This record gives sequence, C-alpha cells and structure tokens, in this order.
Amino acid sequence: MKRITCLFAASFMIIATAVAEEADTRTVIQLSPQHRALVLGEMRQFLSGLQQMTDALSRDDMETVAREARILGTSMSHHMPADLKQALPQGFRKMGHAVHSSFDQIALDAESLGDSQHTLSQLGETLTRCVSCHSAYQIHEIKN
Ligand code: HEC
Repeated sequence: MKRITCLFAASFMIIATAVAEEADTRTVIQLSPQHRALVLGEMRQFLSGLQQMTDALSRDDMETVAREARILGTSMSHHMPADLKQALPQGFRKMGHAVHSSFDQIALDAESLGDSQHTLSQLGETLTRCVSCHSAYQIHEIKN
C-alpha cells in the first residue's frame, strides 16, 4: 500500500511539473485598455467573419464568401490608429498584415474562380497564421 501511495505521489509530481512547464511564455505586448480592446475587437471580427464564410462555403455561396473575406482584408487594418500601430512589435504587424492580405486574395479568387475547394485550402493556410501568432504573443493592459 505504501508503495502504491508513493507511486501515486511520484506520478502526481511528474504531472505537476509538466503543468508548471506549460507556463505562458508568449511574448507580452503592453497596450492601453483602449488599444487592447480595439485589437481584441478585430480578432472577434476575424472569428465571426470566418464563421460566415464557412457557412456560405457549405452552400457554395461564393458571393457571400467574397464579401465576408473582403471585410477582413487590408482595408480593415486602415482603421487602426497610428499610435496603436507604433505600439505593436514589427513581427506582430507583419503577421497581421499577412492575414489581411490573404483575405484579400481569398475574396479575389472566390469571385474569379468560384471554387469552394480552393477557398477552403486558402482558409486552412490562413488559419495556420492565426495559430502561429496566437502561440507567439499575448496582450496585457498597461496599468495606469
Ligand atoms: C498578428 C498576430 C495575430 C493574428 C495574425 C491573429 N491573432 Fe487573434 N489574437 C492575437 C493575440 C495576441 C490575442 C490575445 C491573446 C492573449 O492576450 O492571450 C488574440 C486574441 C484572439 C481572440 C480572442 C478575442 C477576445 O475577445 O479575447 C480571437 C477570437 C482571435 N484572436 C481570433 C483570431 C483569428 C480567427 C485569427 C485569424 C484569422 C487571428 N486571431 C489572427 C494575435 C493574433
């Protein structure tokens, strides 16, 4: 019995260590509460746009796919205030720009090709960019 307890304790410690190693090591970006809210608002727009596009794709409604993709394109980033752009690290801005550009391309191709399989594979590629930025950065609020 003692040995079992001991084994149990040992495996618990291994699990606890593994969890500790999962500590959040993503680069911290410090933003004002307003700027953080703006960035996260844009993120939620990405997610709801993707939801609309996926729904439209399942109906082969390529017109809606193109319209939704264009909303998430480079024109979306033009609304970002200049001081927010300055507060973001270059690597973050680059990844953000790549995602916006890929939505522009998705819109163009959805219109000209009307091929849902092609759009799906483009969306898959775009999503890997969302994933890689999320594994690299986190956003904290600057405390006043
Ligand atoms: C340039 C980097 C970057 C890209 C590209 C990016 N994100 Fe994000 N996203 C972030 C960061 C940083 C956060 C905040 C994470 C944190 O602080 O823990 C975030 C948060 C979010 C949130 C949570 C919003 C909230 O209200 O809390 C959603 C949803 C999201 N992203 C969706 C997406 C989707 C979908 C894509 C791709 C189309 C995407 N993001 C692309 C960096 C990025």
